[in-house]
Amino acid sequence: MSICILAIESSCDDTSASICVEGKIVSNITASQAVHAAYGGVFPEYASRAHMQHILPVVDQCIKAANIQKEDITAVAFTRGPGLIGSLHVGLSFAKAFALPHRLPLIEVNHMQAHIMAHFIDEPIPNFPFLCLTVSGGHTQMVLVKDYLSFELLGETKDDAAGEAYDKIAKIFELPYPGGPLIDKHAQQGNAEAFQFPFPATEGYNFSFSGLKTNVLYFIQKEVAKNPSFIQEHLTDLCASIQFRINSILISKLCRAAKELHIKDIAIAGGVSANSGLRQLLKEAGEKHQYKTYVPAFQYCTDNAGMIAIAAYHKYLKKEFTSQEIEPIARWSVDAI
Ligand code: KG4
Ligand code: ZN
Repeated sequence: MSICILAIESSCDDTSASICVEGKIVSNITASQAVHAAYGGVFPEYASRAHMQHILPVVDQCIKAANIQKEDITAVAFTRGPGLIGSLHVGLSFAKAFALPHRLPLIEVNHMQAHIMAHFIDEPIPNFPFLCLTVSGGHTQMVLVKDYLSFELLGETKDDAAGEAYDKIAKIFELPYPGGPLIDKHAQQGNAEAFQFPFPATEGYNFSFSGLKTNVLYFIQKEVAKNPSFIQEHLTDLCASIQFRINSILISKLCRAAKELHIKDIAIAGGVSANSGLRQLLKEAGEKHQYKTYVPAFQYCTDNAGMIAIAAYHKYLKKEFTSQEIEPIARWSVDAI
């Protein structure tokens, strides 16, 4: 019997299901939640309710798209954390309920480990040990990946995550939530050297973005006081300049870690790794310093169950199963075993 895993991701505001057969992702279906745009950020209680509405149709569609029967499934995986506790409960409860009558093993997955494991979905895959900069809406982490399920956290943000910085600065630019992808879109028409935003100094492999955000806020307030149309008139240049600044902070630290630790394979993962400027900067850094660089396919950058499924597949091979008594964990380190 082949290993066929149904994986569920529900840690934040995307409800996603995936089927993985013998380590290959055969379907990956995600429903996003439009309800949060009106609040300028994720509204946790609405996220849980939307997960409850989406989970059955998403799983149904996912099984159909994989062209399998429910009976073919040999294990059920779910995101145990980190994430919003109510959202996690929905996916975890669904996984338990699906596994129990079918007597299937359950596999718990750490969401931040899964973002990194997205690199094992498609070729080319990085060689161990490699460095992965995981940049999402909730986390910014520099991780040394020693083996499939062996991670060492080298550094992280001391305040806002990179995606959070993108979204909060987009809000200052009067763009709707989530603003990261919109900054990316406008930046493509702008001049990245038009505005010089500061480069924060942080120790070791840590990051800090809240000072940069405040700097942008004060700059915009000052300019808008002189010219109320300042943002509209300079939107593309503002987006290009801030995107370049955030990305250069990220890539310069990644390269510094690679140099100091003598690592030749470097990767990015998480929602912000979908950013076209970040992907380009990583590629250029790789060419300049002879690093092999890796980025997941777009559909596996932002939250998705494909990455949960591939992480679960490697746990299945090691027989790392969990019990029906399991509870979600809102805060759970990437290097937890
Ligand atoms: O990994 P993810 O989907 O969810 C979390 O685990 O947090 O990341 C979401 C974050 C959001 O902050 C979103 O604005 C950002 O990723 N993001 C982007 C882009 N696409 C998504 N930021 C910049 N450019 C993009 N193209
Ligand atoms: Zn994520």
